[in-house]
Amino acid sequence: MQTRTLGTTGPQTSALGLGCMGMSALYGDSDRAESIATLHAALEAGITLLDTGDFYGMGHNELLINEALRTAPAAARERALTSVKFGALRTVEGGFTGYDGRPNAVKNFAAYSLQRLGTDHIDIYRIARIDPNVPIEETVGAIAELVEAGHVRHIGLSEVGAETLRRAAAVAPISDLQIEYSLVSRGIEEAILPTARELGIGITAYGVLSRGLISGHFDRDRKLAPNDFRGMSPRFQGENLDRNLDLVDALRKIAEQKGVSVAQTAIAWVLSRGEDIVPLVGARRRDRLAEALGSLDVTLDADDLAAIERAIPAGAAAGDRYPAEQMAHLDSER
Ligand SMILES: NC(=O)c1ccc[n+]([C@@H]2O[C@H](COP(=O)([O-])OP(=O)(O)OC[C@H]3O[C@@H](n4cnc5c(N)ncnc54)[C@H](OP(=O)(O)O)[C@@H]3O)[C@@H](O)[C@H]2O)c1
Repeated sequence: MQTRTLGTTGPQTSALGLGCMGMSALYGDSDRAESIATLHAALEAGITLLDTGDFYGMGHNELLINEALRTAPAAARERALTSVKFGALRTVEGGFTGYDGRPNAVKNFAAYSLQRLGTDHIDIYRIARIDPNVPIEETVGAIAELVEAGHVRHIGLSEVGAETLRRAAAVAPISDLQIEYSLVSRGIEEAILPTARELGIGITAYGVLSRGLISGHFDRDRKLAPNDFRGMSPRFQGENLDRNLDLVDALRKIAEQKGVSVAQTAIAWVLSRGEDIVPLVGARRRDRLAEALGSLDVTLDADDLAAIERAIPAGAAAGDRYPAEQMAHLDSER
């Protein structure tokens, strides 16, 4: 397995991480046995970075990872790195009601996560969205105290802008910023990525397939469950979806010429953007995982990259990457 290092102070990880969210939430129902099998297959293939959030199925995702790690071979378990997001407040019905980044809340969230994960430390800990009522310095300061106490190894951030990156990095070393980055979500290129690079902060990129939209497997007739995020995402609606799938068709032509899949091309493109970027692939089935792993063998030369840029120029996607009320929580979009 190829490796990359997260920032100047972060851990070395597999070049691809596994994002586990879809195994518990947001993309409709998942098959538990297949999720565990996918986690095991990922560990066996050498993936070390497992990304989760305490609010993915209200603890469900952490318990799933606990089970997968407990039943994995000891060597794979020891290599695994847990990357955990916290702070999102949920309702019994599954709604989101805000974010809590107060220092005592941070330590409370961590105590519960450690229990659910069944580990004595979290490798990378980050608030999912900044709490508008709590300065980032206080939230990061609380995680720094968890690092001091040995409960957390590294501090990460999620969906924050350049100014917040600077403020957080002034408090404690930051290993990586987790943020959406793909052929159709290139907002970080102007200010956020250069700032992360200047500060020695790595990127763990999510949505590299735009939640399946540019995977080559999504079609116009797909029926989405009522609890599927994509049913509310502007990019998956009506004319936006038609325009976005036209972009995928253009990408498919390039993929076919190279003899690889659309998803592999899209993931390889993110991998090509810099050694400091680790794509988190959201596979929840073994066949999808195997396809994603194949992206590590795809080389994109200058001609390929130019053709991809022509097929999907920056800003070509139709529709925002989140519904309006969720866009409002993104410090990265201010
Ligand atoms: N920090 C944040 O704000 C944030 C936000 C969202 C996610 N994340 C993290 O990032 C991870 C990945 O994000 P994402 O789910 O948006 O990623 P993604 O990789 O863009 O989308 C994953 C979806 O793409 C579809 N897909 C089709 N072919 C695939 C393939 N070969 N490999 C993988 N997926 C394929 C799958 O949908 P079907 O299974 O339905 O076919 C899968 O659920 C999450 O699991 C989570 O840990 C972080």
